[in-house]
Amino acid sequence: MLNVNELTSLAEELSKASKKGMKIGLVPTMGALHDGHMELIKQARIHAEYVIVSIFINPLQFNQADDFINYPSNLLKDSDKLKNAGVDLLFNPDLKLIYPKKPAVKIDFGNISRNLEGAFRLNHFEGVGLIVMKLFNLIKPDVAFFGLKDLQQYVLIKNLIKEFSYPIKLYGVPTVREENGLALSSRNVHLSPSGLNIASQIYKGLVWAKKNFKTFNTSEALIIQLKKFYHPQDGLTIEYCEILNSNTFKPVKSLQSGGKITLFIAAYVESVRLIDNISLQE
Ligand code: PAJ
Repeated sequence: MLNVNELTSLAEELSKASKKGMKIGLVPTMGALHDGHMELIKQARIHAEYVIVSIFINPLQFNQADDFINYPSNLLKDSDKLKNAGVDLLFNPDLKLIYPKKPAVKIDFGNISRNLEGAFRLNHFEGVGLIVMKLFNLIKPDVAFFGLKDLQQYVLIKNLIKEFSYPIKLYGVPTVREENGLALSSRNVHLSPSGLNIASQIYKGLVWAKKNFKTFNTSEALIIQLKKFYHPQDGLTIEYCEILNSNTFKPVKSLQSGGKITLFIAAYVESVRLIDNISLQE
């Protein structure tokens, strides 16, 4: 595996691969790789002939300085995992290479970026939009892989690809979980064993909601019950819990209306912010 952190060698390697007619797959990450990331890479190996993983902790998408400073990082371990997974190239640029100066352009994804993560992490998606566009422009992948754990991010990238006519096929990869249901996340390393146990309630609540949503007429009624499900759990603080149409990201009032209904949650356990979602369709 090549480890590249500057643009000339990136361009050289890309040109070699495309001369061989290889389909280029990109998996953008912020490192601290876990089995969720590795599943994206596995899919990339299936659908592409030359797999590039980027590791870049993008400061522009963090709305809290502490979260950025404490974001886990372990390049040596990540690099070993990528080698073993058969990745062709790790792109690991430094800050100056990506942002030689403070960017003046802002990416606004419109209404669907205003709620959920967009509402609670101000400017988060502007930062995601900028880095993903930069990676798309520098790497020009044929296929790109994003996780459905970050469903709002996935839908925004889908829109970005369409609106800017990127010739990229996007794959959404289902959420990889611990045995107890907790969605894998780089931030899970900050949780104690008891925190991990409390955090596993998040998905248990989502599964309960999926099983029972038909017995409720409105989203409001279901969410009240769901909050009661979580309530006895000391140490889990819900930031948001919303039922939306996952195409439009508009709130869904009636649960009997059908369509693409998804339940989204963000919660804090031991000061660690965790997100998850579940489709309420069968
Ligand atoms: P990061 O949190 O490192 O995630 C990289 C990719 O892995 C994202 O597409 C994310 O949805 C996916 N992912 C994370 N946990 C997952 C899980 N448990 N199962 C399946 N996929 C999972 O998301 C980002 O980085 C950044 O916003 C990025 C897109 C790299 C832009 O900076």
